[in-house]
Amino acid sequence: MSGKLYALSTGPGATDLITVRGARILGQLDVLYAPAGRKGGDSLALSIVREYLGVQTEVRCCHFPMSADSAEKEGVWDEVAAALAAEVQAGKQVGFITLGDAMLFSTWVFLLQRLVQPQWLEIVPGVTSFAAIAARAQMPLAMEQQSLGVVSCTAPEEEIRQALQQHDSLVLMKVYGRFARIKTLLAQAGLLEHALMMAEATLPGEQCWRQLSEVRDDQPLPYFSTILVNKQWERR
Ligand SMILES: C[S@@+](CC[C@H](N)C(=O)[O-])C[C@H]1O[C@@H](n2cnc3c(N)ncnc32)[C@H](O)[C@@H]1O
Repeated sequence: MSGKLYALSTGPGATDLITVRGARILGQLDVLYAPAGRKGGDSLALSIVREYLGVQTEVRCCHFPMSADSAEKEGVWDEVAAALAAEVQAGKQVGFITLGDAMLFSTWVFLLQRLVQPQWLEIVPGVTSFAAIAARAQMPLAMEQQSLGVVSCTAPEEEIRQALQQHDSLVLMKVYGRFARIKTLLAQAGLLEHALMMAEATLPGEQCWRQLSEVRDDQPLPYFSTILVNKQWERR
């Protein structure tokens, strides 16, 4: 069999929110690359997919630094992309797992930029964190003519302010460490009553805040925290 690389979306956290296609492929891999939050640390993505791995699969954890040093980050992306390509050239079935959906705010995309042989690559889509949060909180993302904006809270304040004005619904990702600033922007836009925040959706530690005005600015939040805003949703 010739080598192939699969970018596999794990979904938001619950092990049964991975796709059937993803689970089937995981069972056939020779090698699985799993991103870990810290050097030598655990991989949340790996803990989600472990039950689907075949006995033959070798797992390689890789750490992607979050540092501001872009040369360091690019060096690691170059290294991991080259390692994936070398495994495929050696005829192996190789997986790279990524949380939520692989094509949304994912380190995988930096590897994709460096891979120039799409005929040996398949990307398996997954449930995004915000799809899971909308379902868990029973708050729709958008309907009819409404627009949905997906914004990273790392964006400049003015861009977030404009997005809050422009869209009917919004997903505000990467809230961790920025909650107080985002809460102020939501209050200034008159949107606090239309927003909710969920952390670790579908994982055992899932938390949901529906009254953001009552959440303290210094509320400790997990890294996986997201705010949904829907200006027009109300139950009848
Ligand atoms: C690097 S991005 C990964 C996004 C992912 N690829 C997706 O499809 O949702 C990390 C951000 O996703 C959001 N996120 C991921 N998983 C989450 C979860 N289970 N609960 C809440 N937010 C989550 C948070 O906003 C976090 O800061």
